[in-house]
Amino acid sequence: MKYSEKVMDHFTNPRNVGEIENADGVGVVGNAKCGDIMKMYLKIDENDVIVDCKFKTFGCGAAIATSSMATELVKGHTVAEALKLTNSAVVEALEGLPPVKVHCSVLAEEAIKTAVADYYNKIGREVDFEIEKSHEE
Ligand code: FES
Repeated sequence: MKYSEKVMDHFTNPRNVGEIENADGVGVVGNAKCGDIMKMYLKIDENDVIVDCKFKTFGCGAAIATSSMATELVKGHTVAEALKLTNSAVVEALEGLPPVKVHCSVLAEEAIKTAVADYYNKIGREVDFEIEKSHEE
């Protein structure tokens, strides 16, 4: 299966790459099977709005494309909205991924949720959501 133009675009020209100093939430996730690692940084304002989002991904092209797309989908939205972002929504926004690459998009969802959980922990809010793992132990 060929990659969509959107995937190629986000892979060759990923958006929001980098780190945020003093980020309000940081999520580091990895997939033990393929060894890929994704780090997500969130800057969140007093209204719970994600004003900035950056990522660093040491991984496959699909992992880079999905993290890039995920940052675009959560930026400017509240953390509650970001928590609703599913990996299938990321895949849909990328106009599809080959089935063997779907776990890469789960990594992106996992990274966002882990960063939000970190933010909740920092501000003393209960983490009342589950984080789906991109692989089983
Ligand atoms: Fe592991 Fe893509 S092959 S995240």
